[in-house]
Order: sequence, then C-alpha cells, then structure tokens
Amino acid sequence: MDLSTTYLGLELKNPLVAGASPLSRSLDTCKELEDAGASAIVMYSLFQEQIENEAVVHDHYMDYGTDSFAEALSYMPHHVGFPRGPEEYIEHLAKVKQSVDIPVIGSLNGTSVGGWVEHARMMQEAGANAIELNIYLIAADAETSGRDIENRHIEILEAVKKAVTIPVSLKLGPYFSALAHFAEQLEDAGADGLVLFNRFYQPDIDLEELEIVSDLRFSAPHEMRLPLRWIAILDAHLDASLAATTGVYTSFDVLKMMMAGADATMLCATLLRNGIHSIQFILEGMREWMEDHEYHSVRQLQGSMNQVTCPNPAAFERGNYMRELNTFRPFV
Ligand SMILES: Cc1cc2nc3c(=O)[nH]c(=O)nc-3n(C[C@H](O)[C@H](O)[C@H](O)COP(=O)(O)O)c2cc1C
Repeated sequence: MDLSTTYLGLELKNPLVAGASPLSRSLDTCKELEDAGASAIVMYSLFQEQIENEAVVHDHYMDYGTDSFAEALSYMPHHVGFPRGPEEYIEHLAKVKQSVDIPVIGSLNGTSVGGWVEHARMMQEAGANAIELNIYLIAADAETSGRDIENRHIEILEAVKKAVTIPVSLKLGPYFSALAHFAEQLEDAGADGLVLFNRFYQPDIDLEELEIVSDLRFSAPHEMRLPLRWIAILDAHLDASLAATTGVYTSFDVLKMMMAGADATMLCATLLRNGIHSIQFILEGMREWMEDHEYHSVRQLQGSMNQVTCPNPAAFERGNYMRELNTFRPFV
C-alpha cells in the first residue's frame, strides 16, 4: 500500500504531518513522532513579538533610558512564557533536524512586515526543509479594509519568500470574503502551499468573576468540515500544495481530506489528547479502508472528490444549503 504524497515539493511517506504544537519543543517527542510514523514535523511557532521584544530589550541595554522602552515592552505580553528566545529556537530547530530523518518545517508567526522575517533565513540555515508562515490576525481595526488585510498577507509572504529559497506555506484564517480569489493571489505572490485553517481561540465571559476568560479548547471533530469544503474548492484552482488543519482526528478524516484534494494533513489535538501513538492507528485505519475499497495508493484517491468537475461551486453550495434547511424535520 503506497501512502506517499508530495507536499511543498517534499516527498512524504504518508500524509500525516505533526502540526505545530508543543510536541516539537522536546527532541524526545520529535523522535517519538517520527517513530510513530509522522511523515514530517512542523515546529511550534517563533513569534514576531518574541523576536521584536528581544530586539527592544537589546536596544534598551545599548541605549538605556529611552522613553520608547516602557511603551514597547507593555505591548509584549510578559506573562506569556515563551519557552525559548529566537536564538535558542533556531538552535533547537537545528538539533531537531539532526535528530530525525523526516522533513522539519519551521514556523514563523506574525502579522506585519518587519526585520523579524529574516528569521526565516535563519531557519533555513538551521536546516528547515520549508517554512510555515502563520499570519494569525484578527481584523479588529475598523479603519483597516479587507483589501488592506489581504495586501498585508501578500507583503509578508513576499518578504519571507525573498529571505529564503526553501518552500513557504501560508497558514491562514478562514475569514476572507473571497477566499478563492485571494488564494490565487497568494499563489501568484509565491506561496508554495496553503495550510487551512488557523483556528482562532475565542474568549468567553465568566459571569461570576465578570472577567474575560481565555482558555484553550481543543477542536471538535466536526470542525474539519470547514477546511474540507475549502480544500475541495481550492484544489480545483490552485497548483500550490494544500494542507488541512483543524479537526483531523481519525483515518476517515485523513482520507476525506485527501479525497477533497489535500496534499497533507496536520495532526495536533488528536496527538495531544490521544497520544502520539494514535498516528499508528490512523495509518492502520487508512490501509484497511484503502484495501477494502481497492485503492493501491493515496495518490489514486487524492482530489477525487474535489470540485474540479463542478461548474459553479457557489450555486452547488447554495443548492445544498437550501436542501438541508427544507428537508429538516423537527423532532416534536
Ligand atoms: C497547545 C497548542 C499549541 C499550538 N501551537 C501552535 C503554534 O505554535 N503555531 C501554530 O501555527 N499553530 C499552533 N497550534 C495550532 C495547531 O497547529 C492547529 O492548527 C490547531 O490546533 C487545529 O488543529 P487540531 O484540530 O488538530 O488541533 C497549537 C494548537 C494547540 C492546541
């Protein structure tokens, strides 16, 4: 059974990539991911704020007493305990790369163009096989238009592409008004792949303490339907690689994503909740299903359920929507 796939030009032995998570913080867990069968590892992110904060601290010691220092530091959330500074991150990435044989993808996370993007080059020098650029941005500024936000993504992408020769993928949120058009623009700007989608962490309100509660909730399996739909739509238009993230838990989820047109799937919550060994179960489940349904390779089923044969995906989606609403019968 051939489970191999090509993602960002990298030959992967199967579509199960360990997505960005704290599991890449330790060399031991990286080794465990490889031993369990992961085909690549995306590192946890190095953040723009983390890099810029380090630069501010450096400037402070070089130029003690400037007024800008306090303001600049207040911008940085001190209580966020970054496990490593930028230099240590790069050193750690180099060690991960030396300790596993599977591809290692560096993750750079930011929201505006700046000197921090140079860290993409450092990741490449440390041995990264590709860069995953995560633009985790809540468009909360009423002065900023959708077009401005899209242009900002393109500018950051172009700056990172300029800094490296290895492939660059872009991890995006789902909230764009015309994602199919925007995805094509990203491809034109040099994106080698898209990772769909960033999962935005949503705060709640504690009614007793009257405080905002910001806690991390894992994805629910049904959340995989959002990337599933968009991968099916985008696979019909793009040459860039597509990776699915959010709600990928089981072998069936992986098979569906690949049929929709994904080139790889990113596992995170399932590894944190069910353990790294769940990779083996997912691989076994894939082999079993493929054998039962007479598929010999993942490539054979890849994209078989995308929307390439659908002349008008918007009308198709609207037709499904109307049918669901009109055929639903309340249980009363
Ligand atoms: C504890 C935790 C840490 C994460 N850290 C990162 C990160 O550093 N960079 C990143 O791009 N995504 C990060 N993610 C997001 C995951 O890579 C993934 O996109 C998201 O959790 C949705 O996938 P899932 O449903 O498989 O969890 C993190 C997620 C979790 C739960």
